[in-house]
Amino acid sequence: MGDNPHGGDMNGHNGARVWQHHDRSPARIAQAIELDAHPVGCGAVALPETGSKVWRAADHWAAKFLEHREHLLLSWRRLRGVSLTNPPAVDIAEAEEFVQRFHAENPGAGDLRERLAQVRTSVSRTGTYEHTFHELQWATRAAWRHAARCSGRDKWRTLRVRDRRAVSDPQQVAAETIAHLREATGGGRIRSWITVFAPDTPERRGPRILNSQAVRYAGYREPAGGITGDPINVPLTELAVGLGWKGDGSAFDVLPLVVMNSEAQLHVFQVPGDAVLEVPITHPKFDWFAELGLRWYAVPVITDMYLEAGGIRYPCAPFNGWYQASTEVGVRNLGDPDRYNMLPAVAAGMGLDVSSVATFWPDRAAVELAVAVQHSFRAAGVMATDHQTEARRFMRFAETEEASGRPWCADWSWINPPISASTTPVFHRTYPDRVLKPGFFRHEDSMTLMTGASGAVEVSGQAI
Ligand code: ARG
Repeated sequence: MGDNPHGGDMNGHNGARVWQHHDRSPARIAQAIELDAHPVGCGAVALPETGSKVWRAADHWAAKFLEHREHLLLSWRRLRGVSLTNPPAVDIAEAEEFVQRFHAENPGAGDLRERLAQVRTSVSRTGTYEHTFHELQWATRAAWRHAARCSGRDKWRTLRVRDRRAVSDPQQVAAETIAHLREATGGGRIRSWITVFAPDTPERRGPRILNSQAVRYAGYREPAGGITGDPINVPLTELAVGLGWKGDGSAFDVLPLVVMNSEAQLHVFQVPGDAVLEVPITHPKFDWFAELGLRWYAVPVITDMYLEAGGIRYPCAPFNGWYQASTEVGVRNLGDPDRYNMLPAVAAGMGLDVSSVATFWPDRAAVELAVAVQHSFRAAGVMATDHQTEARRFMRFAETEEASGRPWCADWSWINPPISASTTPVFHRTYPDRVLKPGFFRHEDSMTLMTGASGAVEVSGQAI
């Protein structure tokens, strides 16, 4: 780091430190990463050719992990199959459309015909091409603008890119993801960042992170039945344990990062405690609320979606915004019956009549959970929005997109908040629901890994 033009630690932390945009030379970036990710263990994903019975007998972590989970087995075999075959060449029509749209939206971007010729030559010679930094930056911003389920898209132009396309080594992927988390957190003054790792090419797959977010709480299946922690993360927890990780067994243990390299080998890395800002949940009026012992992490960094732009897939491209705390954290993560399931405990604390749901105790408890989480994020100085404010901002975004002449899209069931939808303006209209590229798409097997359910499960209203 000696010749770092800014001097010292540019992240303001002791974490992984890297060069910023002014020196994007791949070799320099790869060299300059100081590793802040401590390996826990690693193993190869080796799945049987046929059937699962062979594996039930085998004494191998994968067999244990997959036991009684045929659906997971299928999904993982598919994943493994995909990993062994090389990705296809870039579809030249998609590449051309991308370059044309980039130039249409960025009139100062240079000679379109020249760029098209370059891209065509590169694709015909190598099966792929390289995005310029400005193309990549536009791709990430347009992908956010096109995210039909995201209600915070009015801020799409503010997304900043950490260009790490030279990085694919699992330990460096983990260190860079942790550096991203630190930088995005900013002590509570959250900024939206995306880190773009190596793309898939016809020669080699890019890396992947199997966690759904950089920070997730473990879910432990208890021998006597029931789950400690976040039930949505039980499969990932069992995978990490199979790879040598051991948690404390609390309801809020931060899971390690599970990174897969181009050869489908899994590596596990601890996320340092000082990289994870958390908010203890209290209530502005109910003193007993703190005793529930609830907390949540400050920054959702999504790690299981790929960026697709101009025919190129970036399988590992962690990005973050900040929370719509009332709904995402309060109502859904802490309130959902298949998550932390806190509505009954909150209702009990409030002394509500729970003899019948017709007393609306679930509704009243959900609102107080939302109030508590919103209050707690504010008290902790952690940036967050709420569903009432964000719905109004989204209306302005919708109006802007409609007036822009650009194609746009929104998914009504995800844009609407899980409580009080009709008290917000986003409820009272419809939206064009279609898939636009550049875009962010969830890896096909990711939901399976999260829920243990077979096939892609649509969980309405939850950007998991
Ligand atoms: N719903 C997810 C969660 O509760 C986070 C999805 C992204 N949300 C955001 N505000 N950027 O963790």
